[in-house]
Amino acid sequence: MKKGFIFDLDGVITDTAKYHYLAWKDLASSIGIEIDLVFNEQLKGISRMDSLERILVHGGKEQAFTLAEKEALAHQKNTHYVELLQALTPADLLPGVKAFLDEARKNAIPCAIASASKNAPFILDKLEVTDYFNVIVDPATLKKGKPDPEIFLKAAELLGISAKEAIGFEDAQAGLDGIKAANMFAVGVFSGEELHGADLLVERLDELDVLDLIRR
Ligand code: BG6
Ligand code: MG
Repeated sequence: MKKGFIFDLDGVITDTAKYHYLAWKDLASSIGIEIDLVFNEQLKGISRMDSLERILVHGGKEQAFTLAEKEALAHQKNTHYVELLQALTPADLLPGVKAFLDEARKNAIPCAIASASKNAPFILDKLEVTDYFNVIVDPATLKKGKPDPEIFLKAAELLGISAKEAIGFEDAQAGLDGIKAANMFAVGVFSGEELHGADLLVERLDELDVLDLIRR
């Protein structure tokens, strides 16, 4: 029997990827780098600084900035991103999420958020779903980002369950690889991009029956 659910946030609970993309695209173009939606796929699940590094490599500018300048660029992107997030409301929950969380709560299955985003608490608050989560892992406490399993293992530890008792939910390949490396059952939330290695693929969370799922 599985005993807890561990969710990625961006792309699983809500679609903030479009806002990340807009903010990175603006930032990149301010330093003479163009990015498109295909390139943006590589940034999903990846931390803010690692995303910036990938953009700089993409634009052939990996040596062009000091660490302090890179921190300022990442800050600039985040300021824009947070401005875009102000418009979030509970209507921005992805279809089926609320019903699934209600079902988990009804069956007393504890839930955690394992997101690379330092904005996760703010986003959950805007979506009015903070109370559904027993645990929100603080990515600032981690040594490695996804695809390392650390964030998922930390979430399981904080939920008080073993990896084998956890089910992870992810929309990005880096995150899915992290769940599998943690030895957990992985639900891939498919949004049009190919996902490899999921134990189960769905388009919406309410395709799943909570009681069937925990028996896997
Ligand atoms: C992940 C997103 O959830 O969080 C990434 O998929 C993002 O695109 C990362 O870079 C970090 O987010 P933030 O909000 O801390 O910049
Ligand atoms: Mg995601």
